[in-house]
Amino acid sequence: MERPRAVITGVGAYYPDYILTNEELSRMVDTTDEWIMTRIGIKERRILRDSTKGSAYLGARAVEDLFRKTGTKPEEVDLLICCTVTPDMHFPANGNIISDMVGIKNAFSFDVNAGCSGFLYGFTTACQYVESGRYKKVVVVGAEKMSVITDYTDRATCPIFGDAAAAVLVEPTMENVGMIDHILRSDGMGRVHLHMKAGGSLKPPTIETVMAREHYIYQEGQPVFKHAVSNMADVSVEIMKRNNLTSEDVAWLVPHQANLRIIKATGERMGLPAEKVMVNIHKYGNTTSATIPLCLYEWEDKLKKGDNLILAAFGAGFTWGSIYLKWGYTKEK
Ligand code: UT7
Repeated sequence: MERPRAVITGVGAYYPDYILTNEELSRMVDTTDEWIMTRIGIKERRILRDSTKGSAYLGARAVEDLFRKTGTKPEEVDLLICCTVTPDMHFPANGNIISDMVGIKNAFSFDVNAGCSGFLYGFTTACQYVESGRYKKVVVVGAEKMSVITDYTDRATCPIFGDAAAAVLVEPTMENVGMIDHILRSDGMGRVHLHMKAGGSLKPPTIETVMAREHYIYQEGQPVFKHAVSNMADVSVEIMKRNNLTSEDVAWLVPHQANLRIIKATGERMGLPAEKVMVNIHKYGNTTSATIPLCLYEWEDKLKKGDNLILAAFGAGFTWGSIYLKWGYTKEK
């Protein structure tokens, strides 16, 4: 019997109300709206200020939105995959916590940590389960409270990140839509340029690590930028070539939102006009695993069944990749 394809059948999202503007940031560190807009392209980002809530709360709200929009009952879900670098706790997995919060029972859940490529890794994993024919409803949620690992005394990193969550439902289909191809890569050598110094088993938390501010994102911007531009574009061009896609065939590029200059460079290498590139970095900043599903959420009304989408990301690890999928539905107006 022919194996099913895995297709996205719904999108949900949640972002906190509080808006941290460049204006407010410029009162916290030595920066300006002009620098942030020119070098990164971010105007504002959302922050979950409630210190009693972590990323699982954001994820749960996004999954609830997904359930509401798709009419899915929690007990129908077979598997939930949470993509995150900011789980509520080291263990148990954020996926376990989110499942409990939204009432998913008789299912299993786990986390995927692939930095900013988290959603690509998590979605590809979900597709393998669905394509096997055994799993019918799989939720993939990117959930990040980046503000807790962002050092608001470091002007080089604090303008970049924001908090948000977004989720997709993945189901089987016998139609010619859904996941068509993917290229995923990682190179742990890149960890020197982008990591958190302390808090893991190599360097557990101590008073010294806290005083040295080692529980925040450490990023060497320029080498990360260089690798991001070349690797994200390379795999996106490669996936187009091996699927015989021209720039006319591609309806949308759905890029990870880390830096507007990286997004533009990737689109240009793929030969795409700016109108085909999803950009919402100015409103949310870099929400790590949530950027790509948050784009799908915001563009859902414009997407048509059969549209060719290229998803692309680069992040901590290093990790990077590209996915070619055919969009599965046209939303009723
Ligand atoms: O999503 C995960 C993967 N991460 C990424 O893809 C991020 C990749 N990297 C980047 O996006 C960029 O490298 C950054 C946005 C992080 C930095 O931009 P840049 O153009 O590479 O700036 P830079 O680090 O080379 O710094 C240029 C100058 C420096 O001053 P000097 O040494 O030239 O005097 C910085 O001190 O800009 C200064 N600078 C700032 N100035 C005003 C750094 N941050 C700021 C700031 N406001 N916020």
